[in-house]
Amino acid sequence: KRNLFQIAIDGPAASGKSTTARLVARKLNFEYIDSGAMYRTITLAALRENLNPTSLVDIHKIINIARTSKIQLITTNNGTPPSAHTSPPQPLVPKTRVIFNEEDITEEIMLPEITRNIMGIASNPGVREAIVSRQRAMAECNGYNGYNGSNINYDKEEKEKNSNSKRKQGVVMDGRDIGTVILPNANLKFFIIADPKIRAERRLKELKRIKEMENLEMSEVLADLLKRDKSDIERKISPLKMADDAILLDTSGLSIEEQVERIIKLALEKMRKSDNMRSDNS
Ligand code: CDP
Ligand code: CDP
Repeated sequence: KRNLFQIAIDGPAASGKSTTARLVARKLNFEYIDSGAMYRTITLAALRENLNPTSLVDIHKIINIARTSKIQLITTNNGTPPSAHTSPPQPLVPKTRVIFNEEDITEEIMLPEITRNIMGIASNPGVREAIVSRQRAMAECNGYNGYNGSNINYDKEEKEKNSNSKRKQGVVMDGRDIGTVILPNANLKFFIIADPKIRAERRLKELKRIKEMENLEMSEVLADLLKRDKSDIERKISPLKMADDAILLDTSGLSIEEQVERIIKLALEKMRKSDNMRSDNS
């Protein structure tokens, strides 16, 4: 039985989902789960092994990687400054380290090479089935970094650390299908959008911090974003779509703090209400 408070955040690329989700999770002391990082990890693994998602033989291998590979998402509170500097100074954003078979692939999975190849993999039904069940388990059964999910492996040291840590009260998860597929009964759902040009500018600033990406062009980033949005919206299985009960939030003219505050306010109201309902029933 679920007792975690769930916040689902969906929206197109670089709209501000993960920055917002991380800060909301830290403020509320909730777990944060980066669903996109898992699709990026599977894509990297497939590229490294030269597997082509359109080949029948290869896709089985990719699905197997999606089912069984060891992926750890470790979100730490000592974060990095947001790339879009505005005044007043913005809060540090918690960072998620992505560990695949003991290797830190946090930066590598953000490279355009991965982003361009993700579509063929994220639109495959077998890959999605595998990832969806892992992500549901991560969001529903615990509250310790998601490591207790059915087939999620984690190391002993991490397990011990987690079993000693205080159980989290809730989870914030961001992606494309969180409110529609992964957590259809989430307590709060948001659909975050922003003007495509603003999104491309934000993503360009982030990517320029990565080594060898200094010469990246704005037009290239924008074209990649639009292409990916189109494919995410048009795919048959788990397309990017606003859930009927989601709240639309346009971040084009908002500061990071403003968008975080709006979500926190609604979350606290809703949590208070469900606490009251519980005490009325008892
Ligand atoms: O950060 P950004 O919005 O650019 O991407 P991401 O959240 O890391 O997700 C990368 C890609 O993974 C998306 O374009 C989707 O194709 C796929 N994805 C998905 O299909 N379902 C999710 N829940 C999350 C990501
Ligand atoms: O997760 P998603 O791909 O939707 O976006 P993100 O990874 O959070 O990236 C959004 C970028 O826009 C980050 O570099 C933020 O610092 C920046 N940003 C924002 O999220 N919200 C604003 N109001 C202004 C800038």
